[in-house]
Amino acid sequence: QHELQIAIDGPAGAGKSTIAKIVAQRLNLFYVDTGAMYRAIAYKVLKNGIPLEDELGVNELVKTTEVVLDHSKEQTVWCDGENITQAIRNPEISRAVSIVAAYSGVRKRLVELQRLEAARGGVVMDGRDIGTHVLPEADVKIYLTASPEERSRRRWIELKNSGKDISLAEVHQDMQKRDRQDTEREVSPLEPAPDAVILDTTGLSVEVIVEKILALA
Ligand code: C5P
Repeated sequence: QHELQIAIDGPAGAGKSTIAKIVAQRLNLFYVDTGAMYRAIAYKVLKNGIPLEDELGVNELVKTTEVVLDHSKEQTVWCDGENITQAIRNPEISRAVSIVAAYSGVRKRLVELQRLEAARGGVVMDGRDIGTHVLPEADVKIYLTASPEERSRRRWIELKNSGKDISLAEVHQDMQKRDRQDTEREVSPLEPAPDAVILDTTGLSVEVIVEKILALA
């Protein structure tokens, strides 16, 4: 017997974090952004000058890295005592993250942390392998998706709003590459759980999607 668990998976830019945050708020559950944890590792790898291809070095580094998600309303992300909430949203991190996220040592450690988060109480957790791997017993599993064009546009607008100078074409290309890496990796690739409800959010408002998920929950 556990408290309510909602798993939300899907490709980049499908609206997972926006939706998950609101659903968590409405149902008074913790929101756990697992992508932020993988981004934190990518941040530390780049900061320490470890080559992204150095799997052993990366796996070793992860063992001594402390990643903390602050569950207050602002969702602060800490890495070894440093507030990296903003820094991990950089396109540079987005390009590096899928490489380190493919390493089994990285995944093993972060999945452990994610399950500890879920043990604290009811959660809405978003990521790529939540319904398939991290919380296979989740009560509700959602696979959120949208057309590639819409996903790139949403992410581009987000980046623009936070003052990043990047073209839509570049965002589109980065995103396609990241999705390919996430889908084709050997360990816990991105795919819908067999029992997931697939929601295509193309052209749908946030509120409509939230209502659909609340109805399932
Ligand atoms: O969700 P977000 O786009 O921030 O995730 C960043 C990256 O972290 C993904 O592209 C993927 O490589 C990795 N990730 C993962 N498994 C998760 C969540 C994120 O591999 N559960």
